[in-house]
Amino acid sequence: MKILFFCSLLLSINAAYADSKYSFEQGEHLFRTAGGYGCSTCHGMFAQGGGNIGGDVRGKGIDKLNSALEKEPTMLLLSNVLNREQRKLLSSYLIELGKMPSVEWIIDGQVTGNSASIKKGVLSQLILVNKRLETIKVALPFVAKSSFIEIKPYETKAVQWIPKEGTIELVYKQNVQVIQTK
Ligand code: HEC
Repeated sequence: MKILFFCSLLLSINAAYADSKYSFEQGEHLFRTAGGYGCSTCHGMFAQGGGNIGGDVRGKGIDKLNSALEKEPTMLLLSNVLNREQRKLLSSYLIELGKMPSVEWIIDGQVTGNSASIKKGVLSQLILVNKRLETIKVALPFVAKSSFIEIKPYETKAVQWIPKEGTIELVYKQNVQVIQTK
């Protein structure tokens, strides 16, 4: 009896996990395609802002989304095409993303020196936005030895890692991003 209970518990945990993973991916897909252009056009590929007009919406719930869809002139067009289920899907996706601390590094043609701080020991996301007209390659030794990422022009990519204590310096030509871990 005990064993049976344990097995069904495991099964239901697995099902719940698979379910939440599925809706995360569905939410991400909708975030990038809603209305034909996606929320990502104004809020960035990972809802982190991306230097666009909408800004960072990670962690925003259904109330914030509904009110933005009613009041934000640039989002009005979307309020007709999104039903309740889709709004729920989008806000769960944003809440899920909000649990993951993030650092955004926008690599453009200007000389920049940005600094961010992040907690150690928590799964985090580094989001790289390439606003240059060339494919860039950045070394990511803090993710793994000899690891690097290649980002095409106007592409955004993200890597996940668990920060350790110390300072990370990311450099591409005149663009520098420093991440301090506390
Ligand atoms: C055409 C640009 C544009 C698009 C597309 C867009 N937004 Fe927005 N969104 C904005 C702007 C501008 C704001 C207001 C930002 C502010 O107040 O700082 C906003 C606000 C929000 C807010 C409220 C933020 C807060 O702090 O209360 C949420 C949540 C949001 N958007 C989610 C979405 C989602 C989800 C989608 C896709 C269904 C989307 N947006 C599509 C431009 C856009």
